[in-house]
Amino acid sequence: MLTLENIVYYYKAQPEKMILEHLSRQFEAGKMYAILGESGSGKTTLLSLMAGLDIPTEGRILVSGEDIRHRNLNEYRRHHVSLVFQNYNLIDYLTPLENVKLGGRKDPMELLQLVGLTEKEARRNILQLSGGQQQRVAIARSIAGDAPILLADEPTGNLDESTALEIIRIFQDLAHTQRKCVIIVTHSSQLAEEADIVLLLKDGKLA
Ligand SMILES: Nc1ncnc2c1ncn2[C@@H]1O[C@H](COP(=O)(O)OP(=O)(O)OP(=O)(O)O)[C@@H](O)[C@H]1O
Ligand SMILES: [Mg+2]
Repeated sequence: MLTLENIVYYYKAQPEKMILEHLSRQFEAGKMYAILGESGSGKTTLLSLMAGLDIPTEGRILVSGEDIRHRNLNEYRRHHVSLVFQNYNLIDYLTPLENVKLGGRKDPMELLQLVGLTEKEARRNILQLSGGQQQRVAIARSIAGDAPILLADEPTGNLDESTALEIIRIFQDLAHTQRKCVIIVTHSSQLAEEADIVLLLKDGKLA
């Protein structure tokens, strides 16, 4: 589904610091992956490359065998991948319902209730929700479309254990019954235990 081929990456502002070093890895449909790694190890950087938000310094990213650089990147970002950002990236002046509606065609109220928001909360302003509730809105938005690849950066970081488990079950279900390729960056051992495959990002490589 998604192949990383010999990826090298450094930020132009800091060319002496290699973030990813000859990293290669295949991700399959129908599986939930957890990527662990110390703070600063490059997890968010890796996700943004997979999401087509940035381009690797060297190497290729293939989706269903095709280099994403040969596709229209806008089209790739719109139809092939969906990303839950570490800082949610919700639109503050809209309600949860409106935010989720921007993510795709699925019924936004149904999705918000699936992640545990009430109807009333779904109609409130984003800024009047707690961090954990905002996180759940971001998750609902990410599954509103039909993208076959779901990427999430610390999606349960702000949630209590039982809410986190409910969210993990939703991602698991998307992988196992809808055959999505789900890749989650996390510090949570609870989440890692539920993943099909656990990878560690260290020294620029995934093991
Ligand atoms: N825009 C940028 N310009 C230069 N360096 C950056 C930039 N963004 C991140 N970095 C550096 O790249 C390294 C990897 O950052 P990244 O955000 O990918 O880490 P992370 O594994 O997601 O960490 P965390 O667990 O804290 O979220 C860090 O050393 C960081 O300081
Ligand atoms: Mg990060």
